Amino acid sequence: MNKITNETINKAESEAVSGKKTILSGIQPTGVATLGSYLGALRNWAALADTYSCYYSIVDMHAITVRQVPAELRRLQYEQLAVLIACGIDPDKNVLFVQSHVPAHAQLAWVLNCYTMFGELSRMTQFKDKSSKNADNINAGLFSYPALQAADILLYRPDLVPVGADQKQHVELTRDIAVRFNGIYGDVFKLPEPYIPKVGAKIMDLQKPTSKMSKSEIDNGGCVLIMDKPEDIMRSFKRAVTDSETSVRYDAKNKPGVSNLMQIYSVCSGKDFGAIEKEFEGKGYGELKTRAGEAVIELFRPIREEAARLIGDRAYLQAVMKDGAKKASFTANKTLSKVYKKIGFIEL
Ligand code: TYM
Repeated sequence: MNKITNETINKAESEAVSGKKTILSGIQPTGVATLGSYLGALRNWAALADTYSCYYSIVDMHAITVRQVPAELRRLQYEQLAVLIACGIDPDKNVLFVQSHVPAHAQLAWVLNCYTMFGELSRMTQFKDKSSKNADNINAGLFSYPALQAADILLYRPDLVPVGADQKQHVELTRDIAVRFNGIYGDVFKLPEPYIPKVGAKIMDLQKPTSKMSKSEIDNGGCVLIMDKPEDIMRSFKRAVTDSETSVRYDAKNKPGVSNLMQIYSVCSGKDFGAIEKEFEGKGYGELKTRAGEAVIELFRPIREEAARLIGDRAYLQAVMKDGAKKASFTANKTLSKVYKKIGFIEL
């Protein structure tokens, strides 16, 4: 795993010595865990787990903004939890929970909806993207999704929110909502900083390297999942789209396929782009594809094996969910109660 070099984190790390800082992040159960979400977010979740007080959520309420098959959604939540634990996120050291198990998320989301502007939500890239892909189901939940995400974050007063580049806009909107609310009611919310890795923040589809890697209904072989078999991962890498040149050189604009492979190989091997360019001097793209594929296979092998074992232990996963929900609710309810008081709700 690459050493984290981000400045924000270094600063926050030194501050953490005097008192643990807080982290919150979330992942949809339906994205399963892709190579993109692992390199963009999950590896940092695991790396930060020892130094910070961490809250990590499987966001099932966000998932239903697009239509889901109930039994499949249930299965995917167990799988996602198993994968998170197998990635090194120890439930004894981190608060790992399912969003719908903590009602404060829905409660605060409603309040924040009333402090979020129509124009702000209309500008969200994820909304535009998802509504174009789900033209027959552009529901209100899809539109107000960022207000729920703001609630997810603000409830835990985190210092950092480790996410991939695609979520930066949502974290920025969260800050705008918090500033607006604090401007009216005083210092209620803490303003969080997004933590986005320098390399790996946007892993592209192997078949369509101009689009973000994500699991979609259409399987074109361009998305790699943590739980994929090694031979399937290698097949996807061998078929990865590159370009008509032959030199291994980082140029995200003109050589998106090769640059994406370099990015993946860099994060998995810890080598920088200069070292990779040297390593593949005079060698073709075929070798880069194979090495990147092998690096990913080796990175995922222990995670996949451990996750498979955990998926078989439903009782354990349920106990983790229960414990996580209890701990998360404790923190979340404190913030919610403060918000309710500020806005004039009566507490019984
Ligand atoms: P989601 O479930 O789509 O993705 C989970 C995390 O993985 C990152 N990610 C990627 N990073 C790099 N390259 C990719 N191809 C890639 N695909 C996904 C995402 O940036 C994200 O960090 N709205 C969020 C979930 C969420 C959340 C939150 C996140 C709900 N509430 C509160 C942070 C804080 C989402 O859909 O992520």
